[in-house]
Amino acid sequence: MTDGSVKRVCLAYSGGLDTSVILRWLIETYDCEVVAYCADVGQEEELDGLPEKAKASGAVDCVIRDLREEFARDYVYPAIQGNALYEGTYFLGTALARPVIGKHHVEVARETGCDAIAHGATGKGNDQVRFELAYRALAPDLKVIAPWREWDLRSRTDCMAYAQKYSIPITATVKKPYSIDRNLLHISFEGGVLEDPWRAPDQSMFVMTTNPEEAPDTAAEVIIGFEKGLPVSLDGQALGPAALLARANQLAGAHGVGRVDMVENRFVGLKSRGVYETPGGTLLHAAHRAVESITMDREVMHERDRLMPRFAELIYNGFWFSPEMKFVRAALDESQTNVTGEARVRLYKGGLQVTGRRSPVSLYSEALSSFEDAGEADTYVQADATGFIHLQGLRLTGE
Ligand code: ARG
Repeated sequence: MTDGSVKRVCLAYSGGLDTSVILRWLIETYDCEVVAYCADVGQEEELDGLPEKAKASGAVDCVIRDLREEFARDYVYPAIQGNALYEGTYFLGTALARPVIGKHHVEVARETGCDAIAHGATGKGNDQVRFELAYRALAPDLKVIAPWREWDLRSRTDCMAYAQKYSIPITATVKKPYSIDRNLLHISFEGGVLEDPWRAPDQSMFVMTTNPEEAPDTAAEVIIGFEKGLPVSLDGQALGPAALLARANQLAGAHGVGRVDMVENRFVGLKSRGVYETPGGTLLHAAHRAVESITMDREVMHERDRLMPRFAELIYNGFWFSPEMKFVRAALDESQTNVTGEARVRLYKGGLQVTGRRSPVSLYSEALSSFEDAGEADTYVQADATGFIHLQGLRLTGE
């Protein structure tokens, strides 16, 4: 492989054991230079000292990009507009972050003169697919290197031994009990004891949400404001996407809202058990649907509902940058033109209820729906229902 085919590789790097070992392995295997790239999508990991660490492992350069605002605005918010839930349950926290990380990975690779691009995702997961489909769509000329599918390191012990051999600086040596992925939208846990789908997660595992049993005895109420389907305010205060999402996480997380425990179908063909905490996302999804309920035309809503699972599947499978995604998103955007208003949501011990919705462009008419007689203003003539039902029932009488 040291045939000089690769001169400079841009590696998605976190400073952890895996990517530190990969960094050195790339240099040894390809006799190339490595540029480390780190995306901040709100994983709350220490980024101070990362460039020094990367260089100590052999990198020629280290680029850190703060993508929190872009992630929230251009990826999380469209998913909320489209009510994207994979298999009806997963809020897609990891799947939504991959394309923005991939997009900037390609940019950094170009800016630093790289001819190849590498990531630390394993050969069994969805993330390799998501990253590489993004690279294909945005930079088909860059060579892709996925060390986990190439090298002969099989375990954590192998990686530790490799790190020792090359004096790679490693900070944490304790084995992580789970495979964790965190960002502004969620935290996910997989692997370890969770691989038994019957085994309940340990309470000590959770990070973003309070145990519902220990959540406050008094409920909290939050009002979320939307404009064209996008969250714009929280309790009347206008906030940008990243700030609003962070605040929603705090509020819903404190009440234990947003935990999901599921077995999902990975794109690569495996079933896998995952536990997720998506507090703010859960709150925003519920509030969004509540505002839609009074502002969306019935038939538009039902057409949109048919697109929802497809949209979620495209996100999950890594087709963010694809022609079909462009098409689906254009339809979803169109469906949101009147979704402006507010919803009030009550948070209590792990649960959430919508308790009110209002909108300046509401399609809901109290007069039309009322059980009370609306008098002359009433355009709904109850007698008309007789003919309506009669015609609907013609086919059903069997005559
Ligand atoms: N199963 C989830 C998904 O495919 C979460 C993946 C988490 N990734 C990780 N490298 N730990 O979106």
